[in-house]
Amino acid sequence: MAVLITGGAGYIGSHTCISLMESGYDVVVIDNLDNSSAEAIRRVEAIVGKPVKFYQEDVRDKSALCKIFTENRIEAVIHFAGLKAVGESAKIPITYYDNNLISTLYLIEVMQQFGVKRLVFSSSATVYGLSKTMPLTEDMPLGAINPYGRTKYFIEEILRDLYASEPDWSIALLRYFNPIGAHESGTIGEDPRGIPNNLMPYIAQVAVGRLPHLNVFGNDYDTVDGTGVRDYIHVVDLAEGHVKAVDWALCHQGCEPFNLGTGKGCSVLQLKDAFEAASGVKIPYVITPRRPGDPDTVYANAEKAKNILGWEAKRDIKQMCEDTWRWQKNNPNGYETK
Ligand code: NAD
Ligand code: UFG
Repeated sequence: MAVLITGGAGYIGSHTCISLMESGYDVVVIDNLDNSSAEAIRRVEAIVGKPVKFYQEDVRDKSALCKIFTENRIEAVIHFAGLKAVGESAKIPITYYDNNLISTLYLIEVMQQFGVKRLVFSSSATVYGLSKTMPLTEDMPLGAINPYGRTKYFIEEILRDLYASEPDWSIALLRYFNPIGAHESGTIGEDPRGIPNNLMPYIAQVAVGRLPHLNVFGNDYDTVDGTGVRDYIHVVDLAEGHVKAVDWALCHQGCEPFNLGTGKGCSVLQLKDAFEAASGVKIPYVITPRRPGDPDTVYANAEKAKNILGWEAKRDIKQMCEDTWRWQKNNPNGYETK
C-alpha cells in the first residue's frame, strides 16, 4: 500500500516523501517537472536509502493517472501539484485555473474510479484573503484576492461539495503559512526557477552572490519595525504535518481544514538578521515601495492541528536559516550542477 504524491519532486513534496518513507509509508510520485528536477527525487532516494517509484507525467493526463492507480496499490493521495506564483497568476490566470483546477478534478475522478477516498490537499493561508484579525483560525471567512488564491479557494469548495455528496471520503485541507528551510542534509531544498518571488530564497541567493541585494518591500507597515510580518514554518515540520494528516485520513472521515504554521510572526528585517547570524554573511538591502496586495501581518492559530492531528511545529527561525544556508551554500545553483 502506498501514498501517491502529486508534485512530489517539488520543494514541499520532496521533503514530504522523506518524512513519509521514514514513517514507514511507501510513496509513488507523479510530477511533470514543470517547476522541479528529477535530481530532487534521486537525492530523496539517497537520503532515505530506498527507491521512489517516479512517473514523469502531468496530473491532467487521466490515462497516466489510471495507469498509476492500476500499477500500484494506492491507499491515499497527497495533492501538491500546481502552479504557485501569485504575481504570475494575475498575468496568466487561465493557465493557473487550467493547471490547478483540472488536475484536481481529474485526480478526484480517477480516485473515485479506483475507490480511493483519502486525500490531503495543499491549500494555503492565502485563502483567508486580507483578514485583519490575527491569529487566523480555520473558521474565519475565506476570500482569496488573486487568481492563484482563488484556485486554492475553489478547490477547497469543490472538495467540501465532494464530501457533502460522498461522506465516506476523508479530506484534509492543509493551509500552509510560509514554508522555508531545507532538509538538514543540505542536499534538497527550494530551487525556484528564475528570480525568486519569495523572501527566503531571495535572501539565500543574495548570500551566495547570485543577486546583488535584497529589496525590502515597504517599511511603513504597522509592525514591529515597519516591514511585513509572516509565520515562517520549517519545511520539515510541514512535511511531518503531512504524515500526521495521512495518518488521520486513514482512520477518520470528514473534510477538515487545518492551519500549518508556528503561530509566531517574524518581520522581513528580523528574518534577514537571523539569516546573517546563521550564515555569517552580510545581506545588503534597499527599502523599496510596498508590493501591491501584501498584508502587513499574517500568522496562524495552529491549535486545531495540534488537537486533532497531534502535530505542532518544532523548529525555530534559527534552524530554518541554518538549514536554508546549508542547502544554498552546498548548491549555489540549486539542482543544476554548473
Ligand atoms: P513546487 O513548485 O516546488 O512543487 C509543485 C510541483 O508540482 C512541481 O514539482 C511541479 O513540477 C509539479 N506540477 C505542477 N503542475 C503539475 C501538473 N499539472 N502535473 C504534474 N506535476 C505538476 O511548489 P511547492 O512550494 O512545493 O508547493 C507545493 C504545493 O503547496 C502547491 O500546490 C502550492 O500552491 C502549495 N503551497 C505552497 C506554498 C509555498 O510558499 N511554497 C504556500 C502555500 C501553499
Ligand atoms: N518580501 C520582501 N522582499 C522580497 C520578497 C518578499 O520584502 O523580495 C516581503 C513581502 O512583502 C512579505 C514577506 O517578505 O512581507 C514575505 O513574502 P513572501 O513572498 O515570501 O511570502 P507571502 O507571504 O507574500 O506569500 C507566501 C506564498 C503564497 C502563499 C502565502 C501564504 O508566496 O503563495 O505565503 O501561505 F499564499
